[in-house]
Amino acid sequence: MQETWSELLMADHEQTEKVIDALETLWRDKLPDPAMVAKALRYFSEFADACHNRKEEEHLFPRLEAAGIPSHGGPLAVMLAEHERSSELLAAFRELGGRVAAGESALAAQMVGVFLEYGALLKNHYWKENDILYPMGRRVLAPQDDAAIVAGIGQVEAALGADTRSRYQALAQEITQGTLEDLSAALDAPVLAAILNTLPIELSFVDADDNVRYFSHENHAKIFPRTRGVIGMNVRNCHPPKSVHMVEQILADFKAGRSQHADFWIDMAGRKLHIRYFPVHGTQGEYLGCLETVQDITAIQQLSGQKRLLD
Ligand SMILES: [Fe+2]
Repeated sequence: MQETWSELLMADHEQTEKVIDALETLWRDKLPDPAMVAKALRYFSEFADACHNRKEEEHLFPRLEAAGIPSHGGPLAVMLAEHERSSELLAAFRELGGRVAAGESALAAQMVGVFLEYGALLKNHYWKENDILYPMGRRVLAPQDDAAIVAGIGQVEAALGADTRSRYQALAQEITQGTLEDLSAALDAPVLAAILNTLPIELSFVDADDNVRYFSHENHAKIFPRTRGVIGMNVRNCHPPKSVHMVEQILADFKAGRSQHADFWIDMAGRKLHIRYFPVHGTQGEYLGCLETVQDITAIQQLSGQKRLLD
């Protein structure tokens, strides 16, 4: 299905937020590498500003105004003022960054200061667009507006080259590669453990060598009892002999990339249990192991109609 204008624009936001986070991490306590500064300047000048902001200013904002959202006062005026401010900060970042990229390392701290302000402004601005302006736009715009904005977004990208989107996706990846941490990295291990134990699904994980490494809900009531003795055991020794060939087949298919999940459902003491297996891959696609999830879906199967937060 074709993406909507808000999906396209929010994908731009998401990509740029990751680039900002990666650069914040890189430049937090290390002298910026001139080559990386040059990449960042290209990304923000050519994509975040000249491509993304132009899509909004030329194709989204005028239609919002035509649909009755005033450009003086109100959210649209705030967005325009923030685009203006972001252009000023970008100009300062380009001026300083150009000199740092050319070897004037004495200006690095000042450049990073400007970049941090610019990045913080963009992230706050994107959040407002995603959560306030776009939902408002989705309510007031007619289907022909939606189609025209999607076409306009395509035109802006095409004017910058045939493969604009993939080109800047690749640049974003070059900048974030090896630096951008998963969001869970910011959580303390006890918090992460508590989150896993709060899931309404029990987890078990066997590593790439098929040895059991983890199970969740240790101190909670569990559907299938497990104790620490199982940790380190080869998964083949945890199953009855007559089902071992199934385990072998599932793991072989996961390791070879032949399947992305294996699902089973059984009845147990009046409950319907859903037992699923998934291959777990690292950021480079490498096989890390197999995740088992066990869920009591009895109550879920009986749901009908809706219960909504806003009812
Ligand atoms: Fe935007």
